[in-house]
Amino acid sequence: MLLETLNPMYYNISHVVPEVSPTATVSLLLVSCFLLLVWRYEETSSIPGPGYCMGLGPVLSYCRFLRTGIGSAANYYNNLYGDFVRVWINGEETLIISKSSATFHVMKHEHYTSRFGSRLGLQCVGMNENGIIFNSNPSLWKEIRPYFSKALSGPGLVQTTDMCIKSTLTYLSRLKEVTTENGNVNVLTLMRLIMLDTSNNLFLRIPLDESEIVLKIQKYFDAWQALLLKPDIFFKISWMYYKYEKSAKDLKEAIEKLIEKKRKKLSTVERLEENMDFASELIFAQNRGDLSADNVNQCILEMLIAAPDTLSVTLYFMLMLIAQHPRVEAKIMEEIKAVIGDREVRSTDMQNLKVVESFICESMRYQPVVGLVMRKALADDVIDGYYVKKGTNIILNLGRMHRVEYFQKPNEFTLENFQKNVPYRYFQPFGFGPRACAGKYIAMVMMKAILVTLLKRYSVQPIMGRCLENIQNNNDLSVHPDETQSSLEMVFLPRNGTI
Ligand code: HEM
Repeated sequence: MLLETLNPMYYNISHVVPEVSPTATVSLLLVSCFLLLVWRYEETSSIPGPGYCMGLGPVLSYCRFLRTGIGSAANYYNNLYGDFVRVWINGEETLIISKSSATFHVMKHEHYTSRFGSRLGLQCVGMNENGIIFNSNPSLWKEIRPYFSKALSGPGLVQTTDMCIKSTLTYLSRLKEVTTENGNVNVLTLMRLIMLDTSNNLFLRIPLDESEIVLKIQKYFDAWQALLLKPDIFFKISWMYYKYEKSAKDLKEAIEKLIEKKRKKLSTVERLEENMDFASELIFAQNRGDLSADNVNQCILEMLIAAPDTLSVTLYFMLMLIAQHPRVEAKIMEEIKAVIGDREVRSTDMQNLKVVESFICESMRYQPVVGLVMRKALADDVIDGYYVKKGTNIILNLGRMHRVEYFQKPNEFTLENFQKNVPYRYFQPFGFGPRACAGKYIAMVMMKAILVTLLKRYSVQPIMGRCLENIQNNNDLSVHPDETQSSLEMVFLPRNGTI
């Protein structure tokens, strides 16, 4: 009976065919068109990477990015398919590049001065078409960038050394506040406090509670990182993104209050010239109608989070590396003694601190805090012989590039890697070109000034058994150590006498 049911010969064909034929034909046609599309789609891309596989490829690659984070996923695909790979993020074609020639091309050209990320996620943290860091509206970004460039170069840069020394000495004199019962120092918190204080003294100049703002910055950063690639559907469920929205709102409100104080101060000062800084320039731009209040708030917020988010982690990694490499430490101390002696470091010393500079570069190469740069193609182009459509997302995997090209001992931490001048296309920790890190020069000055001021007074040691390599990184938008208290702690031993 079963056979009879399955055997079409038993049906009255003349009854069945006319009834099912139109639906079957349409379905068959649709499936054929779909398969043709899939086939044609797969044919069009010659870029290495996972296959489209009827849409399964895009789903799987997006899941990997969501599950492991951008950094780990980018390394996974580059290791598997080479240094020029095509994947998908949220259905959008995304290239992951770790080849210096292609990276250089993208950084140099004006039509890659946009970034990508979830619009709703960026909206949630106030970065969508606002501020600078993830502002992907080219004309708005062009208006805003000069305010940052001006504040982060010229006279601002000259004052930086003194501001860094002042903040470092202040927080070293209050070391107890970041020291545990066991006598260990929470280095990351110490660095964040120094960074925020320096940034405030340079760009806003309003008294603030550093510890409170540092906590809010950390939560803001977590929210930004968590929401950056989320699919739109995530934002339909309010309880899922509520805590991130709140973190962003908390920091925004705190900054708003500080800006209000700044406004009041500006309206009462006698000599305006002496009070001109980054925040004042933006407030006046808003008064003229050039920028919206929301944008001014976001720009000041981003300027205040930039150093605590990047430099504090970088300096923490550097102190761990110094503690693990006593011979490197000895060379640095020798140079500090020869160039600076007993006095404090000055801005004129910076160019003479060659060993310190090599150490900073090698640390950023070996253990970068920002290993990735995210861009979007604003026009059709050809990169390294591959056709790239307008709208393609691009991830420049700088962390990997610094480990697979040019350097003699790529997997070792050694100053030998920077013994000779490294051509700049092979080493780009701050990016390059029109959308490079706006703080690249100030960051170098800050790192030198803080390192020298601290190392003149203390030698540092990791807690027994801890080294940089075994500290878990979440390897996402930027690399952060595992933030459990003990992994961030180090022992600070006062040096005998001054150098
Ligand atoms: C070790 C420290 C730092 C590293 C490694 C770093 C690295 C980077 C990188 C790789 C980018 C993206 C560049 C690109 O797309 O090509 C960037 C962007 C940026 N950085 Fe930094 N940065 C550091 C410190 C700072 C500091 C101290 C400031 C300011 C006080 C700053 C301000 C900015 C800004 C405003 C942008 C966005 C530029 C734009 O989109 O136009 N950075 N940074």
